[in-house]
Amino acid sequence: MKITVIGAGRVGSSVALNCSMRELGDILLLDIVQGLPQGEAMDINHQLAERGIDCIVQGSNNYQEMKGSEFVVVVAGVGRKPGMTRMDLLKTNAEIVKDICNKIKSYAQNSNIIVVTNPLDPLTYLVIKSLEGQRTKIMGMGGMLDLSRFKDHIRTVTGISRDSIQAMVISEHGENMLPLVRFSSIGGIPLSHFITAEQSENLINKTKKIAAEVISLKGATVYAPGNAVSTMVESILKNKRTILPVSALLEGEYGYNDVCIGVPCVLGSEGIERIIEIKLNEDEMKVLDLGVQSVREAIKTLSI
Ligand code: LAC
Repeated sequence: MKITVIGAGRVGSSVALNCSMRELGDILLLDIVQGLPQGEAMDINHQLAERGIDCIVQGSNNYQEMKGSEFVVVVAGVGRKPGMTRMDLLKTNAEIVKDICNKIKSYAQNSNIIVVTNPLDPLTYLVIKSLEGQRTKIMGMGGMLDLSRFKDHIRTVTGISRDSIQAMVISEHGENMLPLVRFSSIGGIPLSHFITAEQSENLINKTKKIAAEVISLKGATVYAPGNAVSTMVESILKNKRTILPVSALLEGEYGYNDVCIGVPCVLGSEGIERIIEIKLNEDEMKVLDLGVQSVREAIKTLSI
């Protein structure tokens, strides 16, 4: 199994580390910066060697080496600076992703593609349209990361083990994300049993804002994104058919067409095997609609 990660910065290297530590396959770490992917690969291989893990991580600046990849993870692009929104990166990162799509078209057209580069939802749409790809095989990782934060905040508020927490976050991986309190639970008991309406509001707001706080403290989010991508790869690779939030191209689901947004999906060997349409209430639908409109506005500027 070959997994290519395009972008050997902090997030891309975290994806490579997480995937190889889970023994998901050999990793090709690509970057335009000479020496960076090679150095990151060496460092990860040293960790794998001590763990007795035989997955090999190869660093390269040659995109042709993508050939034969079952997965391509698109991480390359500029990250947010403190005070920026993810959408502020659209113009710059769209150009980078368009160039990467040309390389994927040449060397790995039929791979499963997971987009990470922000702003995630419009750029996932850009990749699907640029590659004229199947919407089951090209998806975005955003909600998985929001879900990670939502779960951690639920633990903090309730004091209950993270292992007992089930949660869901949909909509835009951005200002209009939607942590779904009504569809989250602890030990199978609805989350609302454990928290007040006020705590629920605080949970949602903290989940929205925490990435910017991490960026202001350490410059980038690294470990949680790498883990989130690996969970998606693992669900597809092992045909686990886990329900995860994924940025998917909608074709009528939730009443929307021709837009990528975070929705609950079943991820298995065919990629997005099912988009699950949950019954949202009026307030939840309003936030999802704001997310869709925000992504649609961004897509309009992409001249696809
Ligand atoms: C974050 C970036 C990856 O939420 O969007 O950390």
